[in-house]
Amino acid sequence: MPKSEHERGEWGSRLGFILAAAGSAIGLGNIWRFPYVAGENGGGAFLVLYLVCVLFIGVPVMVAELTIGRFSRRNPVGAFEVIRPGSPWKIVGYLGVFTGICILSYYTVMAGYTLGYIVKTLIGDRMPFESFTANPILSLSLFAVFSILTVLVVQGGVKNGIERWAKILMPVLLFLLVVLIIRSVTLEGSSRGLSFYLKPDFSKVTGKTILAALGQAFFSLSLGMGAMITYGSYLSKKDNIVTSSGYVALFDTLIAIMAGLLIFPALFSMNMSPSEGPGLVFKVLPVIFNTIPGGHLVGASFFLLLSIAALTSTISLLEVVTAYLVDEKHFLRRRAVWIVALVCFCLGVPSALSQGIVPRLGRLPLVNMSFLGFMDWWFGNIMLAIGAVLISIFFGWVWKTRRAAAEILEGYPGFERFAPALDLLLKFFCPACIIVLLVFLFIGGE
Ligand code: PHE
Repeated sequence: MPKSEHERGEWGSRLGFILAAAGSAIGLGNIWRFPYVAGENGGGAFLVLYLVCVLFIGVPVMVAELTIGRFSRRNPVGAFEVIRPGSPWKIVGYLGVFTGICILSYYTVMAGYTLGYIVKTLIGDRMPFESFTANPILSLSLFAVFSILTVLVVQGGVKNGIERWAKILMPVLLFLLVVLIIRSVTLEGSSRGLSFYLKPDFSKVTGKTILAALGQAFFSLSLGMGAMITYGSYLSKKDNIVTSSGYVALFDTLIAIMAGLLIFPALFSMNMSPSEGPGLVFKVLPVIFNTIPGGHLVGASFFLLLSIAALTSTISLLEVVTAYLVDEKHFLRRRAVWIVALVCFCLGVPSALSQGIVPRLGRLPLVNMSFLGFMDWWFGNIMLAIGAVLISIFFGWVWKTRRAAAEILEGYPGFERFAPALDLLLKFFCPACIIVLLVFLFIGGE
């Protein structure tokens, strides 16, 4: 039996939910991952593909996840069980929980670096990114501190922990981004960066580029592993799922576009290469701060806000696994949170050691990536895409949009008109696009 709504907790207000879901979506994915993936995949063309993926695949999948969550009032595993009892569909939920644990493991490593950069920028330390991440004690302690911070917020539960933080801090991040973009685009030689980013060159687009854009859309919107099923389960019946999804996607995409506007002009004005890889923002941002009066303070505040944005995302990752253990395995919330965090920490150690500490982990044989890069490619792209395809098939073909629409109609009586469009997207368009791309990738197409 699902627990009563009162016991499970519910969002305090619609705005609170939107900000918390946007908090999950907005994070390192926008500011760390988006610019480096865009840089590696050709800039402008990637941006266009990314926007198409968000609009036609990301938003429908988000509506599907939130609806499944609100209807079932459960974690991803329980949700499939409530809608199709006794069927193998709950494997999709397990897959999500597993993917969540894996993403959390390396994501927290990167979040730890962000935390370290607050102090590093404040004291004006000029150590290069590579030397910073090559210090094992520093990397592992920052990783541990960030894990503990996540645990402390998730322990507080939905309304007091997650919602309160998200409400205050997201708007501040937006403001600081605007200030820094103005600085970046006024640097000398920045216009080449703007044209790299805003003038698409489709001649370099390959199957891999499209898959990277699609994976980035899922990663950035927190889709494909049940985070939005879990957040949807705390949503009230009065809320409009479709417009809420629209707002979350809009905020998230806005921040990613802004991150690109911040990074690429500065990058080109410094004559650096856009395909720097995962260290990109950590290398570019300090240079921008050095050109601003009081740059130490501005820089430190920026990394502080970025750490908080990362925290609202790690919270959502941890919440998925915690909700599963609390709902299905009847763990006490407090115990569940600590156990999951410990498992994620152990799993994250190789990622933390792969950035200049253990050379073998820095370049894995066959795949030619660092352990962290490999985890990100595999779980942050492929597993999310697999999860999303299964969720859309479940929604469109198994639960059926017709039945799901009854849930969406609560809170959005005008949905009737749009139901056929959602049906087409989730039944045919999303699964077809994702499957074609995955097959293409596995048969080694370019
Ligand atoms: N969307 C988050 C970000 O952009 C990361 C995330 C992925 C969170 C998947 C939850 C689930 O940083």
